[in-house]
Amino acid sequence: MAKITAGVGCSHTPAIGAAVDLGKTETDYWRPMFEGFEASKKWIKEAAPDVVIMVYNDHNNAFDFKMIPTFAVGCADEFPIADEGWGARPVPIVKGYRELAAHIVQSVILDEFDLTIVNEMEVDHGLTTPMSLMFGEPEAWPVRVIPIAVNVVQYPPPTGNRCYNLGKALKKAVESWDEDLNVMIFGTGGMSHQIQGPRAGLINKEFDKNFLDDLSRDPERLKDIAHLEYMREAGAEAVELVMWLVMRAALGEKVDEVYRFYHVPASSTGVGHIILNADNNE
Ligand code: DHB
Ligand code: FE
Repeated sequence: MAKITAGVGCSHTPAIGAAVDLGKTETDYWRPMFEGFEASKKWIKEAAPDVVIMVYNDHNNAFDFKMIPTFAVGCADEFPIADEGWGARPVPIVKGYRELAAHIVQSVILDEFDLTIVNEMEVDHGLTTPMSLMFGEPEAWPVRVIPIAVNVVQYPPPTGNRCYNLGKALKKAVESWDEDLNVMIFGTGGMSHQIQGPRAGLINKEFDKNFLDDLSRDPERLKDIAHLEYMREAGAEAVELVMWLVMRAALGEKVDEVYRFYHVPASSTGVGHIILNADNNE
């Protein structure tokens, strides 16, 4: 049986990918941030997932204002890297797992979640930045990836509660796939950030810390945080944190915190990072 063994919460700020691609990870600005992911890279290499379900958001690259699905599952064999305006990142193509993605889509839709099936899709920094942070710079990515793109760019995004319930449905879907697979799930984006307007640069460390604390201690509180509260307290783009709730709920009721890291500054973002083992991962 496949099972979700662990979850990773992780920033996806595009400047991080640019720092990797331009060889700037050792500069004074970036070194402290990348050092925080050294232990994570070791951990994931040892834990050796077969598949990563990547809950991320597209930033008007695969989709645009003509069409914005709320939850879109990438069911292709491969996902090319998007050109976001300065050329595609020089990272390996992302390999999917079509059969498992199709199974997840069937299980979750029949569970009454109306996902969008996407058979052709490019992936942007929302997905590739976490890959670089966790897997470094390999010739080929060591895992297959099932992208789940969540709309957080145009109002209204899904509620935290809806995301939390999607996580539960994903757990059920993975556990009904009859192949021994080590599956991990990433929730990406956040933490506090506001990248435009008079409040640009807003960071709320206390909000971020409480969010990280309650991922293991009280996720039921987090699922009820309203969009306006994210935006008021932690900046407009902090609403990306609803994607971490998909990850959290897919791990089951209890989790063990393996690792945590928090760092400011990195572009406009409070870089938050957490690794949680699922309760079935003995
Ligand atoms: C930044 C962060 C994001 O999540 C994003 O999608 C774009 C920019 C930033 O910190 O600059
Ligand atoms: Fe983003």
